[in-house]
Amino acid sequence: MTPWRPSWKDSLLRAVQQTSDSVTFARAWMQWEPHEGQRRWLLAPRRSTAVLVTGRRWGKDETETVRTLHEAVFQPRSRHLFASVTLDQARIPFDLCVEHIYRQPLLEALLDGKPRESPFPLIKFKHGALITARSTAREGVYIRGHKFHRAVVTEADYVSEQTINEAIRFTLADYGGQLVLQTTPRNRSGLVYREFWRGLAGDPAVYAQTGPTWENPHVNHEYLRSLRDSMTASAWQREVEGVYADDDTAVFRWADIQAAYAEADWSWPEPPPEEPAKRRGKRYVQGVDLAKSQDWTVHAVLDATSRPYRLVFFERYQRRPWPTVAARIREIHQQYSCHQTLIDATGVGDAVLDEVRDVAQGYVFTQRSKLDLLTNLQVGLEKREVRFPFVRELVDELQGYAWEDKNLVTDCVMGLALSVWAAGPRWAVQYAPSIW
Ligand SMILES: Nc1ncnc2c1ncn2[C@@H]1O[C@H](COP(=O)(O)OP(=O)(O)OP(=O)(O)O)[C@@H](O)[C@H]1O
Ligand SMILES: [Mg+2]
Repeated sequence: MTPWRPSWKDSLLRAVQQTSDSVTFARAWMQWEPHEGQRRWLLAPRRSTAVLVTGRRWGKDETETVRTLHEAVFQPRSRHLFASVTLDQARIPFDLCVEHIYRQPLLEALLDGKPRESPFPLIKFKHGALITARSTAREGVYIRGHKFHRAVVTEADYVSEQTINEAIRFTLADYGGQLVLQTTPRNRSGLVYREFWRGLAGDPAVYAQTGPTWENPHVNHEYLRSLRDSMTASAWQREVEGVYADDDTAVFRWADIQAAYAEADWSWPEPPPEEPAKRRGKRYVQGVDLAKSQDWTVHAVLDATSRPYRLVFFERYQRRPWPTVAARIREIHQQYSCHQTLIDATGVGDAVLDEVRDVAQGYVFTQRSKLDLLTNLQVGLEKREVRFPFVRELVDELQGYAWEDKNLVTDCVMGLALSVWAAGPRWAVQYAPSIW
């Protein structure tokens, strides 16, 4: 590649840059109009750390797409990173960038070849700027050793403090780059929370902004309001109001949940590496929570050969007829030669259990047995005896779970709890007999 030399076009771009902020850029180059909260964020003074904490669907990824494209287009040879707890999560703004580029001939003309997929997603521009997306998995091994002008950590509260400090921050050292942390609030004892408060307290190195989902006029507010009954008060505060909430009702501690996925050595939905070859001599158990009316059926398979138990298989689906669900339970049971398959045999579960009695046992939920099941999971997490890959639905359900769960979505929690119980209950509790 010939070394990059500024041409008249670059000079023109520079000139445009001087008159253009991200909002002007978004309007002129992308025909994209920010909502009020996004406008404030995009026009905020540039600080070495910027923290955006909002409700779900606020438009965080859209906003970071705009800002990143703006900087990549106007800053030759600048390097931009999207990082998150999984590659899928990091890819959301990356894919939005690709979409926007192909929608705008002017942006497309700047591309240096097609965006690449492997080994990592990569967009290269003719003037040398690049945008990539990486997962923060395995303590940031895919990020360490690189250098960037700007690193955007999306859903940063899921990422460990150590990875942000020891892997991501150092990639910014060469250029004195900017660290952007955006997230729906999760963790009051984490780095994002502290940086957020530093920003609000007036630290000149940090810009902090918060906003409820209501700021985004492009989501259905009526639908949002309808979710209120199916969430705990603190989940509502976090997910919609975008506020760090006290978790008085939480059953599972955030630190325990985070420890469980931070140590996992495979990422969902990819199967664990070489798993079938390694299955011989292992002890697997399956837990299944069955969908009631419109919720989800969840299968969770643990490798329970030794502690910590590892979640090696996870599946979640909706609206399948009972015979199909029964067939799936049997299929997974056989695939893993499960030592035990335990299914929720309450109510409709009975019908399914009838079809799989030869391979599965039923767990009848009573007030007492449910308490035992969940306490068993709680203790297992506290003692770091359970590990699972990052599955957002599972992680969020665990965090949002409360003892008063009548209106909550709990399928992932129950599926996992049943599998942990099947691995070996801590206490002898009556289950199954009532239905045999
Ligand atoms: N300025 C905008 N103009 C039009 N649509 C927008 C705008 N900002 C956000 N949206 C839309 O709002 C929805 C949420 O946006 P986005 O995915 O960026 O939010 P998020 O905060 O990252 O959400 P999540 O919490 O699910 O990660 C999307 O459908 C997106 O297209
Ligand atoms: Mg998002």
